[in-house]
Amino acid sequence: MTTTTGSILVTGATGHVGRHLVAELRRAGASVRALTRRPDVADLPTGVDVVEGDFDSLPSGVFDGVEAAFIFPADGAVEFVKAAAAAQVPRLVLLSSLAAALEHERDHGSASQLHHAAIEEALRATEAEWTILRPGTFANNLLSWAPSIRYTGGVSGPYPTSAQAPIHEADVAAAAAAALLQPGRGGEIHAMTGPEALTRREQLAVIGTAIGRELTFTENSPEEFAAEMRQYGVGDSIITMLLDYWSDTVDQPDAVRRTELLNGRASRTLAEWARDHAADFA
Ligand SMILES: NC(=O)c1ccc[n+]([C@@H]2O[C@H](COP(=O)([O-])OP(=O)(O)OC[C@H]3O[C@@H](n4cnc5c(N)ncnc54)[C@H](OP(=O)(O)O)[C@@H]3O)[C@@H](O)[C@H]2O)c1
Repeated sequence: MTTTTGSILVTGATGHVGRHLVAELRRAGASVRALTRRPDVADLPTGVDVVEGDFDSLPSGVFDGVEAAFIFPADGAVEFVKAAAAAQVPRLVLLSSLAAALEHERDHGSASQLHHAAIEEALRATEAEWTILRPGTFANNLLSWAPSIRYTGGVSGPYPTSAQAPIHEADVAAAAAAALLQPGRGGEIHAMTGPEALTRREQLAVIGTAIGRELTFTENSPEEFAAEMRQYGVGDSIITMLLDYWSDTVDQPDAVRRTELLNGRASRTLAEWARDHAADFA
């Protein structure tokens, strides 16, 4: 049961993390308000107070009766944090990124670090009870493999032996729900990852098991990968960020993190994630 009395405002409610978060909050009995640019297609659960708007055009009264807000780090989130603080929302929970922790040389000045650090800074300047969630790489990033898996039975890419610990979006949501529902937790920063580091080749095999197919990982060079990404319009800062991450995690796999916000529950494995997303790959 929830210990909150007001409602919980969820931004990014229609996203991968946000949908799990809304469901989790509703299960806990919380009253939820969701901000979306497209209420007509939002498809949020009955009982959720869906309001139209975005960070650049907040609807008036959006913070009325709000006890806690989940901040999705879209462009404009810095202004949203300031508006929430001005409206004296007591508790703010931010979806940030492990890149903001500056644990690795590669993070300094990366696209992700610069973006998330600016929002974190705005949040820390507030007097709200704030919690920052810093997940590492999302398992959902593997959805970019789906077309290739479907049509060619495998993927190609660089650094097949690099090892990451992808996190299930539902675990990010579970941690966010815990922070939103528990008053008095201010000033906490939680690094989060999945429960084990797996090589990119192993990650592909896990997806193969979930869909009952043997999948092939064909190694290509970083230059070939960069050229292919540019064709899809991916910017150089993102390409550099990915290549730096994969090349670093060949010799130094992702360190696994846990957070007490998961209330002692083990975080979901990549196998669970792959089963949950089997339809995306089949
Ligand atoms: N990928 C990773 O490895 C990784 C790692 C660490 C952190 N992260 C963070 O996690 C985020 C991805 O989370 P996700 O997968 O849940 O995202 P997602 O599925 O792409 O959802 C995006 C959400 O953002 C909302 N949104 C977009 N622009 C907005 C605006 N201007 N104002 C208000 N809301 C806006 C959308 O709402 P409507 O369309 O309904 O308006 C939608 O709900 C990344 O952007 C990154 O910051 C990612």
